[in-house]
Amino acid sequence: MNIQVKRLSYALGAEVTGVDVSKPLSEATIGAIRAAWLEHQVLVFPNAELTPDQQVAFSRNFGDIELNLTKHYRDAASPGVVRITNRVVDGKPSISRNVGRTWHSDSAFACVPPMGSLLYCAALPDVGGDTLFASTYMAYERLSPTLRGIVDRLEVVNDRLAAPELTWIPPEQAARERIEYPPTVQPMVRVHPETGRKGIFCNETVTVRIHGMTVEESRGLLHYLYAHSIRAEFVYRHRWNLGDLVMWDNRCTIHLAPVDYDMNQVRDMYRVTLAGTPTGRVFDSSTE
Ligand code: OGA
Ligand code: MN
Repeated sequence: MNIQVKRLSYALGAEVTGVDVSKPLSEATIGAIRAAWLEHQVLVFPNAELTPDQQVAFSRNFGDIELNLTKHYRDAASPGVVRITNRVVDGKPSISRNVGRTWHSDSAFACVPPMGSLLYCAALPDVGGDTLFASTYMAYERLSPTLRGIVDRLEVVNDRLAAPELTWIPPEQAARERIEYPPTVQPMVRVHPETGRKGIFCNETVTVRIHGMTVEESRGLLHYLYAHSIRAEFVYRHRWNLGDLVMWDNRCTIHLAPVDYDMNQVRDMYRVTLAGTPTGRVFDSSTE
């Protein structure tokens, strides 16, 4: 198999061709894909033509499947796959239709956030429905040495229930979820466990403050980092084609799904999530 890797932007992103992701692959091919993933952070496999089971099989080449963190969006018909869709499911608009409307890395509220995800495009609106990715490496590396020295030493408090998409949930459900997903303390800068590179690891979706500081005290620096992290030069904007499979490294990127399309048209994506390694701990107010 003769893999070709073509960069899609300066910051991150590459298109991979010459590999049939629907079939079992050799160790050499899997190794080449993994190396490209670590280098480019986001890989695009065009014309992947995958069933959900084939998507799971391909994903398993790179790690274990994360089932727990995505269970709210799980599709009973295909274990291992969640549907991110604005289709009507069981007579109601899917609760996944507004996933990703603010910049985030997936499940950054969890003590063990996912390593990455593989998102497959099954239906697309006429125009738009894009996904934007930003390199947290580049954002970190472009900070001044003095600010890098400061953020290196800070931690943040992340809270799943702070996510804008969850503000609708009823209070009883919020109380239950508060027990299942307590706030966590995470490093402001994450060292990638495979590449050793550092990236900014806080985001506007779930980060509520700097650990040991008040919300007010935290606001200025956090807002600066959020704005800095999505500067145009750190971003790759993926314009989907039907059948694209996009695989992102959740340890060194953030992403966004803007409402840049007609929501009356169907956008249907299938996602497989890879389990990650620990980054955080449950927040304990007695340690602040
Ligand atoms: C996700 C997500 C983005 C999209 O699945 O985690 O943020 O474009 N999706 O659907
Ligand atoms: Mn996401």
